[in-house]
Amino acid sequence: MSALVKTTILGLTGAVLAFSTVTATAGERVFGLGTLATKEEIQGWDIDVRPDGLGAPIGAGTALDGEDIYADRCAHCHGDFGEGVDRWPILVGGHDTLESEDPVKTIGSYWPYASTAYDYIYRAMPFGEAQSLTHDETYMIVAYLLYMNDVIDDDFELNNENIGTIEMPNQGGFFMPDPRPDAQLASGEPCMSNCNVSTEIIGRARIIDVTPEGDG
Ligand code: HEC
Repeated sequence: MSALVKTTILGLTGAVLAFSTVTATAGERVFGLGTLATKEEIQGWDIDVRPDGLGAPIGAGTALDGEDIYADRCAHCHGDFGEGVDRWPILVGGHDTLESEDPVKTIGSYWPYASTAYDYIYRAMPFGEAQSLTHDETYMIVAYLLYMNDVIDDDFELNNENIGTIEMPNQGGFFMPDPRPDAQLASGEPCMSNCNVSTEIIGRARIIDVTPEGDG
């Protein structure tokens, strides 16, 4: 037997022994890896704000408070009035366009919950400087955007107590169960074959301007 094969067999035996040892002590689960996340570390990740306001951090602000901060931190991309500069996203308007051939989806026309605006803006904006806003600043900016979308008045104080109760214009546009045939129904399995799917065409890429016009 060559030295190489012998080494391999010995190695294997070693591995089997090592495996048995692990099996014997697995109940104790002492792997010596990682550390327990601290309360502060968990707090850093646990920033979601749910539709009913659960998780909203303590804070408050009005649209009047938010106007200057929005102008300073957001307007150079999203426009002074949320109209969107160049191709940066539009944040205001688009009401009653969802059923048109060219829907304009904004916080006001499309988003179902004010808390989503809070969550997203605190989590991800300003683009490139995520999580640099304070909680109060975020409430102020969300209030400003809700005011610009005709959802609240300019002196309405948005805060952690009421963010889950704001009624958004398109709140009723989201419903369960999800009617798409491949979605997981709450009541059972998703349809994977011979599904009775309507083939009504409700939009065309060329009309909503996502397909370039060309000679071909
Ligand atoms: C440097 C440009 C820039 C700045 C500044 C900026 N954003 Fe944005 N914003 C973006 C881009 C790009 C996206 C799209 C990101 C994506 O889809 O992943 C976006 C998306 C958003 C959206 C989601 C829009 C939608 O309907 O999908 C909101 C809301 C938003 N920004 C709010 C803000 C607010 C509030 C501020 C200021 C605190 C801000 N942004 C600052 C570039 C910017």
